[in-house]
Amino acid sequence: MRQSSLVVVANRLPLDDNVAPDGACEWRRSPGGLASALHAILESTPATWVGWGGGVGPAPALADIGTLRLRPVALTEDELRGYYEGFANSTLWPLYHDAVETPVFDRGWWETYRTVNRRFAEAAAEVAEPGAAVWIQDYHLQLVPQLLRELRPDLLIGFFMHVPFPPPELFMQLPRRVELLRGMLGADLVGFQRPQAAHNVAQLAGKLLGAKGADDAILVDGRVVRTGAFPVSIDVTEMEALSARPYVLNQARQLRHDLGPHKRVLLSVDRLDYTKGIEHRLTAYSELLRDGRVKVRDTVMVQVAVPSRERVESYRGLKDRIEREVGRINGEYGRVGEPAIHYLNQPFDRADLAALYQTADVMVVTPLRDGMNLVAKEYVAARADDTGALVLSEFAGAANELEDAFQVNPHDVDGLKETLLQALDAAPADLSRRMSAMRAHITENDIHAWARAYLTALDHTGQLARHLPRQREASARRS
Ligand code: ADP
Ligand code: F6P
Repeated sequence: MRQSSLVVVANRLPLDDNVAPDGACEWRRSPGGLASALHAILESTPATWVGWGGGVGPAPALADIGTLRLRPVALTEDELRGYYEGFANSTLWPLYHDAVETPVFDRGWWETYRTVNRRFAEAAAEVAEPGAAVWIQDYHLQLVPQLLRELRPDLLIGFFMHVPFPPPELFMQLPRRVELLRGMLGADLVGFQRPQAAHNVAQLAGKLLGAKGADDAILVDGRVVRTGAFPVSIDVTEMEALSARPYVLNQARQLRHDLGPHKRVLLSVDRLDYTKGIEHRLTAYSELLRDGRVKVRDTVMVQVAVPSRERVESYRGLKDRIEREVGRINGEYGRVGEPAIHYLNQPFDRADLAALYQTADVMVVTPLRDGMNLVAKEYVAARADDTGALVLSEFAGAANELEDAFQVNPHDVDGLKETLLQALDAAPADLSRRMSAMRAHITENDIHAWARAYLTALDHTGQLARHLPRQREASARRS
């Protein structure tokens, strides 16, 4: 395979293999924030993306997407269980999300995680041209920066964590905490969604590795590792253009007609994940119906929950609980032809998501913890006329930026109920002021600005590293 000057390494390729109704294998864009974000910037940049294609067994050769080359990494069934479903999504994922679900510590998973991380590092080493920049993504691949540095010391290595990086007292629970921290700090630049994460890492590096560190740089193993916050975003122009398409406008009109032209529509769009606070919002909505403060004759909720990590036990349990609760709410409060909640456990294409965003009077985003939450930003981008209300958990990274949302603590169900009512009853002028401020923010801070900021900072660390040996030589000559 030809080599590239920019290589992205992420657990998933931006495509998933999917069996079409006629049995043929087809590829479609993967759901999830990481693929959405990077797909937008890499469509038109010459680069190679190293990642898993979503299936098991030998990896198929894949055609380029525009200027983007795809380098698939194969996983066996056992590796899928130990690395992806096990260590990444049953140990790290819950622990990094405030342990809202109990993390599982299974000693067997660690070896598999290391083996798979080594395979990703080898694939990246193979496709990176001399001196290339390699940008590694997320908690699945936390050992890759160090492994890659050992294989290819000539590379400029960046790492970005899309999920929260936990406070030291939680990270310290990890049996392999030293290896995980050292692995990540093999990068030249480690980026996070929020400044607090860089602070947590600096503290841990001092405690576990004896490193000297501040919130923007850590001196470890004789190297300087830069750290910082780079809040990820969306392709605002793409969402705006999509929302203006005749198909989307028609779909939105049809949806409004189907939902009830005079009804106020509450919408939630999540991967079906226990971090998203779906149960908390169902409780709040159900209590509002019970108390008669919201009525099905004038309000309806749409909950889109795209299937996710379906073989992981905690996700299966969540799906069962949500489906029971939706059934109970519809059974108790719905009327013939008028359900209280429309529940859609299926993927949507981007145009249909844009139509849903346009139909929603109130977008309800209530994660218990979330690195960023791109759905909140997509909703804002889709509201070109500055209508609509965003209810947003203060525990989503997006809350740092979208200060004009109706912010809420989802654990406080009474507070959540009041905030939902406040958003439903807000005056149009208030909504318009809030929405236009949020739109201005995301327009300025879109996905391209994010990539530029990160890659410029990475390049800067490279220049510093190249400059430092020369500086040292010069001062040695002077002395
Ligand atoms: P996460 O990364 O945890 O999945 P985000 O909110 O940051 O959460 O990103 C979710 C991404 O997945 C968004 O770009 C959203 O549009 C997309 N998405 C969410 N639900 C669906 C769905 N039902 N079908 C297709 N894409 C979806
Ligand atoms: O950042 C969160 C994340 O794990 C991303 O890596 C990915 O975009 C998303 O969640 C979806 O998860 P999965 O790849 O497990 O379906």
